[in-house]
This record gives sequence, C-alpha cells and structure tokens, in this order.
Amino acid sequence: MMKFSKINLLRRYVQEAATRSFVPHSGQPRAALALLSNGDWTCGVRIENACYPLVIPAFSSVLVCAASVGRRDIKAIVFSDSVTQSEKRLAQQIVPTLLDQFDEDIIGQTGCNFQIRNPLETCKHLPLDMNSNEGIRLARHAAEFAHTPESDFPVGAIVVTGDHKYFQGVNIEYDDWTQILCAERAALAAAMSAGTTNITDVYVSCPKSAVATPCGACRQVLHEVAPNAIIWMDRGAKEHEHFRTDALLPQAFRLPL
Ligand code: THU
Repeated sequence: MMKFSKINLLRRYVQEAATRSFVPHSGQPRAALALLSNGDWTCGVRIENACYPLVIPAFSSVLVCAASVGRRDIKAIVFSDSVTQSEKRLAQQIVPTLLDQFDEDIIGQTGCNFQIRNPLETCKHLPLDMNSNEGIRLARHAAEFAHTPESDFPVGAIVVTGDHKYFQGVNIEYDDWTQILCAERAALAAAMSAGTTNITDVYVSCPKSAVATPCGACRQVLHEVAPNAIIWMDRGAKEHEHFRTDALLPQAFRLPL
C-alpha cells in the first residue's frame, strides 16, 4: 500500500477538486483523481444536468480529462468519497491498466514506492493570433488523440474560456457504448474540472465527416453549462459553420431549480 502521507496528499487534491463540481441539482460535490504510471495526476469533477441520465459522473470525467491529452496509463483512481460497487465493476471493465485492488475511496494499484509528480497540463493558453481558423486547426489536431476502436469516427473538440485559455477533448471508446462520452462533453469535462465557468466558444472537428453536428446529448449539456457559447463546426473541405448553443436546442429541457 502507498504510504499514508502520500495517500493523504492525493485525498487533499481530490477534495479540493470536488469544490469545482457542477452540482446545481443535487448539491453534492464529487471528484475523482487519476494517478498515472509516472506519478502525474489529474482530477475530474461531476457535472450535473437537468436531464439526469446526461450527468457526467466524476469517474467518467477524470477518464476523459486524462485521455483527451493522450494519457490512458491510469494506475489508481482516488475518489472524494467512498467508491461505489458500480464504479468498481466499471473500472474493471473499462480501465485495463487498473488492478482490481480496492480501498474505501481508492480503486487500483498504490504500490509503496509510488511517485506523485505533477498535475497534467490540460489547460493551454490561446495563441495570440487566435481566430476561428486557428480554433478549427486546434480541434483537428485534438482529434488525433481520439481512441475509436468501435466506430472509427474520431472527433476533437476545443473549449475556449473567457480568460483566453483552451482545453481539448476527444472521444474515447469502450466496448460498452453506453460509457462513451462525445468529444464535446470530454472537452467540457476538462474545462470544468479545472474550474472554468465562462465558456465562450467550442470548436468541433469530425475529420471523417463533412456534415456532422453536435449530437442531441451534447446540445443538452452545452445548453446547461455554456448557453451563450458559439459552436464552430469543422466541415472538412467546406467552409466551417457556427451556431449559438441556444439556437442548436430550441425549447431545451429544464428543471425548475
Ligand atoms: N461523437 C462525438 O464525439 N461527438 C458528436 O457530436 C457525435 C458523436 C462520437 C461518439 C462516438 O465515439 C462516435 O462519435 C460515434 O458516435
């Protein structure tokens, strides 16, 4: 087992991350921290939605935060509270690098000589010459990190924040299709897990389609967390198009809060 002090350091990081959860419906913050094979780590937060089945759990959130910057070498996941049985099952099913070793709030291998290094750099500063062509270029580049053994349909997304930063997201596929998050939601998870509240633009690139648009589930999630954002679509050879989030989902579902 990892040294007590080291575990407690990770617990501190994940507790701090939980304060960045987006939980307007339950009021119950939750976060997960992924410890990678070289000691780097990152956190993902729970992102709720008025449509409960579209809630992004902390567990899914941290997986896409790491994978969207090319890291799938997860050794352990530390939760901000107790691990549930279904998270244990899911971990065994979809995270092959995790050993089935469990603690109250930890899934995976926490060997005694384990290093804790740096937080992953999921956030980058926008280029000075930022314009929509540059946003599309970044989204196309992000799509190269997609992992699509099921669909062979890579997607890259870039979330731009009001303070001139950006986060990338990609689609990472598992053989259980119900666990897959679209690239748009992966990029939102990365941005919100880092504490972003002001999302101005989302660039989406589907290199294998000239007609794709964000799916209905992503529109619903975007509507709740980035209602005024501009969504830019890469249309392959065609000129790219843009829409406002609220135009993509007229009469969106809301819960009375
Ligand atoms: N996909 C996205 O990443 N974004 C969309 O808006 C539509 C679909 C992904 C999910 C899945 O990995 C693959 O494309 C096929 O549905």
